[in-house]
Amino acid sequence: MFRIDDCIIRLSRPDDKADLMDVAKTIWQGSDYLPQIIDRWIKERWFFVAEYKGKVIGCIKLSQFPDKVIWIEGLRVHRRYQSKGVGTLLNDYIMQFCYRLKDKDPGRSFEFCTYYKNTESLRMTSKLGFKPVCSFYNLDSKGSFKMRAPEILADYDMSIFGLYPDYIPIGWQMVHNCAESLDFIRKYATVFRSPQSLYLINRTGSKSISFLQPPVTEMEAELPYLQYFFGHRRSLSITLPTSLTTELYRLKELGFWFWDHETEPAENMLVKKL
Ligand SMILES: CC(C)(COP(=O)(O)OP(=O)(O)OC[C@H]1O[C@@H](n2cnc3c(N)ncnc32)[C@H](O)[C@@H]1OP(=O)(O)O)[C@@H](O)C(=O)NCCC(=O)NCCS
Repeated sequence: MFRIDDCIIRLSRPDDKADLMDVAKTIWQGSDYLPQIIDRWIKERWFFVAEYKGKVIGCIKLSQFPDKVIWIEGLRVHRRYQSKGVGTLLNDYIMQFCYRLKDKDPGRSFEFCTYYKNTESLRMTSKLGFKPVCSFYNLDSKGSFKMRAPEILADYDMSIFGLYPDYIPIGWQMVHNCAESLDFIRKYATVFRSPQSLYLINRTGSKSISFLQPPVTEMEAELPYLQYFFGHRRSLSITLPTSLTTELYRLKELGFWFWDHETEPAENMLVKKL
């Protein structure tokens, strides 16, 4: 029988990869992005795993983000071991670690983003004192076969992020809208221009395109430029600020909607902070 006392939390090692790949297979019907990012996370600092009887059954990652933010992500527990307290153990462990970091620098904050229906994650983090600070709309569409290469922008400054006065979404990671974030965005995102508009897409993790300008009138003509980053007929994912709620129904006509088929608009990407 499983005993939580036999579970230890430690920093990851290169030989954890195979076990972590097994964990990922059991998450979100195998669509987890962990396998794409695992090598990088193992090399970086602050990637913690839960080990049970010599096997890795869960993980969590902390990263230094701009503006003294410690970003928390990648919390996973192998499906077979879920609902047994392993997620809580991982969270409690990294929170002790976070408090020690905060003792050294009280200006630090701790943040993460999750899906608004992720009850386990929301529950655990509310208990730890995390509060919602920002939200976004994340929409999907089936995608099409038409693709066109947009112009990739190498030279830009923070003025292009006016739609996001507080947090700028880079996939499911969010950074503060401040000068220090520019280098981070250049490193982890691609900004591109279609003939009519400007967008950003993350380079790692689950891909989603953030609108940097409100959807244009001729939105249909934009789709091949968005499709370019996903491939033929692959489903598209886009992220919009809540200030663009009125645009949602127009996007719906183009096939974009919430993947849970909500009838009403749902702010489904939630950023929480401590
Ligand atoms: C989220 C996740 C890490 C939780 O890990 P876990 O080991 O199952 O979590 P715990 O057993 O410690 O339970 C955590 C809380 O969620 C609740 N919970 C666990 N399973 C639940 C379920 N199926 N339905 C509702 N609540 C549940 C627990 O009751 C507990 O709350 P409590 O302390 O108030 O009782 C795990 O479900 C998982 O890997 N999910 C897929 C990946 C994911 O969503 N990651 C988070 C992204 S931000």
